Amino acid sequence: MKVKITATGSYSPEKILTNAELEKIVDTTDEWITDRTGIKERRIAAENQCASDLAHQAALSALNSACMKPDDLDMIIVATVTGDMQLPSTACVLQSKLGAFNAVAFDVNAACSGFIFGLSTACSYIKTGAYKKVMVIGVECLSKFTDWEDRTTCVLFGDGAGAVILEPSDDESSCILSTDIHSDGRFAELLYVPGGGSMMPASPETLKDRAHYVKMKGNEVFKIAVKTLENLVIDTLKKNNVDPSELSLLIPHQANMRIIQATATRLNLTPDRVFVNIEKYGNTSAASVAIALDEAVKTGRIKKGDYVLLEAFGAGFTWAAALIKW
Ligand code: UT7
Repeated sequence: MKVKITATGSYSPEKILTNAELEKIVDTTDEWITDRTGIKERRIAAENQCASDLAHQAALSALNSACMKPDDLDMIIVATVTGDMQLPSTACVLQSKLGAFNAVAFDVNAACSGFIFGLSTACSYIKTGAYKKVMVIGVECLSKFTDWEDRTTCVLFGDGAGAVILEPSDDESSCILSTDIHSDGRFAELLYVPGGGSMMPASPETLKDRAHYVKMKGNEVFKIAVKTLENLVIDTLKKNNVDPSELSLLIPHQANMRIIQATATRLNLTPDRVFVNIEKYGNTSAASVAIALDEAVKTGRIKKGDYVLLEAFGAGFTWAAALIKW
């Protein structure tokens, strides 16, 4: 049995935070952010919006594209590291907001690779024959975990959500050809939120130390991300006997324009075969590839029969790829 993406959707909060506005918050410049990352602006959730609210909008958008009702879903997988609460899962909160009571709902935590980990999980469940209409959502409310006094991280992140619906298919000429997921926990402390969990429970001390915010050693993450992603995309194509010249569109995780360019160069891809929207949204972690995929579909960048490669790298470390014949 094969698995097919039958619909996509996404949602980005209305509020736009530009580089010029960030110049007034921390010691940075539009020039530095643009040159080093490719980001010009990012979306920020409203004060009363949490991850499940963004996920809800993206889910409705995907259901609308599929002409499906929430009741039709039998599984909901939410990939996030900025969920509504420590418990229950954001997927359960979303299930309630959607009224999708025929679905089992759970979260996946694989940071920026989370959406592709979710796709991989969904494919496995569908291939058992037990689940037929599975929604996978990548969503982040990173602005609520961002240290707005730390210029090395606060310029990078944004909020948003992307969703897909997956269904079984017999059509070998239009399906997900492979998903690859990987992790190496030895690098956990290069990108993490140390406070607020069982290792360092919330306390006045952790608040004072700003331990509840994302910490990243960006330059070290950068070097490993470039190398890992280059190997990942080459291996994924090789495994599927697809030559890079046959690839119609690379949809990379939108963390840094220089990382995206390095991967594109390794595959010898011209810019028209690489999907980039980092300038509008910044790094939205698990939502990034999902939003990009929806935009690529809705703007006609993907046609039936195209080879489309998704890839991501993130905290953990985790990294993942999915090759799709659209
Ligand atoms: O999504 C999950 C995985 N995450 C990633 O893939 C992110 C990977 N990392 C990156 O994208 C890049 O490393 C960053 C964009 C985070 C940083 O770029 P970089 O070229 O690696 O810069 P750097 O960290 O080596 O810093 C260079 C300089 C430093 O100043 P000194 O020490 O050379 O004087 C920083 O203090 O840039 C300074 N700097 C800034 N200057 C202006 C750092 N942040 C800023 C800032 N504005 N916002």
